[in-house]
Amino acid sequence: MAFLVTSNTHKFNEARHILGTFRIATAMLKRIDPVEIQDDNIENVAKVSAIDAAQKCNLPVVVEDAGLSVRALDGFPGPYSSYIFKTIGNDGILKLMENTAERDAHFQSVVAFMESTMRYPLCFTGEAEGEVTHKKRGTHGFGFDSIFSPLNSPKTFAEMTLEEKTQNSHRASAFAKFALWYKTNL
Ligand code: IMP
Repeated sequence: MAFLVTSNTHKFNEARHILGTFRIATAMLKRIDPVEIQDDNIENVAKVSAIDAAQKCNLPVVVEDAGLSVRALDGFPGPYSSYIFKTIGNDGILKLMENTAERDAHFQSVVAFMESTMRYPLCFTGEAEGEVTHKKRGTHGFGFDSIFSPLNSPKTFAEMTLEEKTQNSHRASAFAKFALWYKTNL
């Protein structure tokens, strides 16, 4: 059983779907509220949260952190994705890119696993390359899904079903790496 620390139901459903394909059951630990530091590196953010969550709930835990980096904006918002989504949101990102032809962007996901016998969390990383669309499209998913279209697909993540998104997503790639490790080590 993997204990995923998150209050985001979309994240949990995506992770549960991916881990389910590896026959790993997933439970949602909703109210742990681990510390979330501000750092230039998403991996550091996930690691600190995983250490804190493992201490708080005394269980082996999984924490996942993600971010969207836009090439024309020098990687912004990256590790600041959460704050930027809460403040300027998708409309703000589209406005910043109004006159920008270069639309390349990528999502990064870091899955951090921590249990009491470990000194440091183990991290697994996944990426999804794609582009920022000119308009919001689609109603599924969450966050930046309606403005991000992965390579090799005409759809945005928000126009995809959960199954379609997990065929293309940063989160699926990171959780698949975690699942392979989990299967052979636990
Ligand atoms: P966090 O991993 O929850 O800290 O995510 C940081 C920000 O990126 C939040 O505003 C999320 O809404 C957004 N985000 C994370 N993963 C995704 C995704 O798969 N699609 C769209 N937005 C995402």
